[in-house]
Amino acid sequence: MRALLLLAALLLSAPAARADNQDWTQVARGRYLAVVGDCVACHKATEGVAASDYAGGRPIETPFGMINAANITPDVETGIGRWTPDDFAQAMREGRRPDGAHLYPAFPYPWYTRMSRQDMDAIFAFLRTIPPVRHAVNRNTLPFPFRIRAAMIGWNMLFFTPGELRPDPAKSEEWNRGAYLVEGPGHCGVCHTPMNALGGSRSSEAFAGQSLQGWIAPNIGGNEALGVGAWGVDDVVQYLRTGATAWTRASGPMAEVVEYSTSGMTEADLRAIAVYLKDRPPRGPAPPAPLAADAPRMRAGEALYIDNCAACHRRDGAGVAGMIPSLKDNQITVQPGVETLARVVLTGVRSAATDLEPTAPGMPSFGWRLDDQQVADLLSYVRNAWGNAAPEVDVSLVRQQRERLTRGP
Ligand code: HEC
Ligand code: HEC
Ligand code: HEC
Repeated sequence: MRALLLLAALLLSAPAARADNQDWTQVARGRYLAVVGDCVACHKATEGVAASDYAGGRPIETPFGMINAANITPDVETGIGRWTPDDFAQAMREGRRPDGAHLYPAFPYPWYTRMSRQDMDAIFAFLRTIPPVRHAVNRNTLPFPFRIRAAMIGWNMLFFTPGELRPDPAKSEEWNRGAYLVEGPGHCGVCHTPMNALGGSRSSEAFAGQSLQGWIAPNIGGNEALGVGAWGVDDVVQYLRTGATAWTRASGPMAEVVEYSTSGMTEADLRAIAVYLKDRPPRGPAPPAPLAADAPRMRAGEALYIDNCAACHRRDGAGVAGMIPSLKDNQITVQPGVETLARVVLTGVRSAATDLEPTAPGMPSFGWRLDDQQVADLLSYVRNAWGNAAPEVDVSLVRQQRERLTRGP
């Protein structure tokens, strides 16, 4: 009888012990992990809704169409107010809702699955403490056949390996912490690892970079020419914390990652990320031989560069440290894909503003002044001047980018 009572008491107290919103250390940990997981970037409410970071509705662009992020405030009707810690863990670990319906991997559960149950419970406890917001989100925006959620069963079989990340005993504690953050809550590979046509990650090319929403998410593995192999650990930390190094600034999708996520991480966690990334195998193509300086295209591009760019980026491409990015020894310039370069020249750019780097200088647009052929020549020059070496730029890529930027995503 006593044993039974004890068992009953244990069973009753078990859920409370798992995710208890009165346990402030757990809530504080959960709040931090929500920052690491960048939940707000996707789940913040769209305009017009009661201001909440978690009320959802923002359309997330995927290869199949737009998917709206869910309301994850504790509202019982439109949010996850009725969910238990087990329901939440099932969503994070298996990508399934309490009724068994499949979630789309636009919600990065293929990465969150690698988190510990303890960390999932902490995030859930934190989410219980934010005010419930009534906001019904249209969850079925995809075109047929992708709107059939059961299609995700096949997708999961092909591309999804559930389960917590196990530490590698041969590596240091710092390396393992970095692996956990990058491969788990930080889900850096969502953008930086090339996807196949069905939106699955090609793990054999992890962190080799890809084009993404009209930008390039660059190589961030150990490759010295293309990745962060030649960056110091301090450089990576500074970039992730402030959105800038002496030679480059985070723009586009990475500006948001810095603003909502990495700028709020601890120094120790950022160092761990840097240590892990620099140790990733150097993937990506070997640099080609640079175009000869006297090739007609190089001459045409050089003339355009002197007229339009040299005043700011300097004749030798070195820019002004901390103010105007360098175009040499800058991996952005030599990535295999040129979407970012074409975009920056066509529309100009303004990068991340963080507390540590509040003033984001802007670059003006040249799309009205330069035609597609001129932009292609100019960029071919930039990619092959001052010791740079990268494939020349085809005019059709500039044209595509201009069309995309005019039309919107
Ligand atoms: C890259 C964008 C993105 C990020 C980052 C993201 N989510 Fe989501 N999340 C989504 C989208 C999109 C959906 C809706 C998926 C669907 O309808 O299948 C979703 C759905 C969910 C759901 C399911 C809710 C329901 O009612 O079905 C939960 C729970 C959730 N997210 C929690 C989180 C948490 C916690 C974090 C941070 C650790 C997070 N998400 C980060 C995009 C994101
Ligand atoms: C939403 C997509 C996205 C996610 C998620 C993302 N990144 Fe990025 N990242 C980018 C893009 C795009 C750029 C290029 C920014 C630019 O051109 O200014 C970038 C740039 C970088 C760079 C600079 C590379 C260079 O050569 O200048 C580093 C380092 C980096 N990311 C690390 C990370 C880490 C670490 C994570 C996970 C914590 C992460 N990123 C998550 C999209 C993303
Ligand atoms: C008025 C000064 C100015 C001029 C002229 C200018 N730029 Fe920029 N450029 C900037 C600034 C400032 C940034 C950083 C913007 C930011 O990220 O906020 C930048 C960013 C860039 C970047 C992104 C680098 C990175 O690391 O993310 C490229 C590429 C670039 N410029 C190329 C060019 C080219 C090519 C031209 C000539 C067509 C040009 N710029 C003309 C000021 C200028």
